[in-house]
Amino acid sequence: MSEGTTLSAHVTESIDQWKSRFPEDQQRSAVIGALHAAQHENKGYLTTDIMDAVADYLEMPPIQVYEVATFYSMFQTKPVGRHDVAICTNVSCMLRGAEELVEHAEKKLGIKLGESTPDGRVFLKKEEECLAACCGAPMMMVDHVYHENLTIEEFDRIVDGLD
Ligand code: FES
Repeated sequence: MSEGTTLSAHVTESIDQWKSRFPEDQQRSAVIGALHAAQHENKGYLTTDIMDAVADYLEMPPIQVYEVATFYSMFQTKPVGRHDVAICTNVSCMLRGAEELVEHAEKKLGIKLGESTPDGRVFLKKEEECLAACCGAPMMMVDHVYHENLTIEEFDRIVDGLD
């Protein structure tokens, strides 16, 4: 870990809460919650220093923290836009027009899935998993809020409203 990289009191409090949910010999299970809290506080992405600090706090090898951070699509390891826009492209949503929505989103925002707009406003996340709202397909999640039965007009209205 780089000298001076520490987790804030808010993040360590959150990690302690996660740790309390697991048996004494399985404290590493708190790593997902820990990374989530640390990422939230760092504008939506994790740096190597932050992951090292989490590893340090949980007394686990840094490589294991990197593995978790790079395995789950909920974690980002490079700077991203302020707002997470994730269009679900899994089977139900795909059958109900998700591909057209993605095509529209990429054209409208001038970026590809997995990229952020140059003004730092929108991160068009590549969503790999079903977001568990299939009966409202097609759908997207914007900053953890679900928008279902999505149309292109509704997509525009929501995205245009992001600051
Ligand atoms: S396939 Fe999109 S929510 Fe399930």
